[in-house]
Amino acid sequence: MKRRDFINWVGLGLVASSLPIAIAACSSETDISASARSQEWKKVGTVADLDKTGQLLAENSPVGAVLVVGTSKNAASLIAVNPTCTHKGCTVAWQAKTNNFICPCHDAAFAADGKVQKKPAEKSLRTYLAKIEGNDVLVKTA
Ligand code: FES
Repeated sequence: MKRRDFINWVGLGLVASSLPIAIAACSSETDISASARSQEWKKVGTVADLDKTGQLLAENSPVGAVLVVGTSKNAASLIAVNPTCTHKGCTVAWQAKTNNFICPCHDAAFAADGKVQKKPAEKSLRTYLAKIEGNDVLVKTA
């Protein structure tokens, strides 16, 4: 075997053997990017809208339907859930007096942390982290 042929053969072998590693590195980088993207804060409304009633329902937000409860005065205690009842999909409503979410369709109740308090629903509401930044209300997956 000539020296040049040997070098070409070894070089081709190195490229071929490192290809799966390069592909894996690229694909895991993509996974991290997608994961990081889903962890980003998303705007779901304005502080003015939240402060009007102490509730902000964003049915078509970037994370889907979200109900944020609270006001800018107590921004540290904002509550955010997906308001879609886990029983049959009605939209739950916040009850400030009892500090929970009630479904108008079959009367299921959910605690402020989304956990079921009263059946027929059996699964918790999905919850989000919520914060205020400037004039925006933001949420991200908890
Ligand atoms: S849809 Fe909510 S309790 Fe049935």
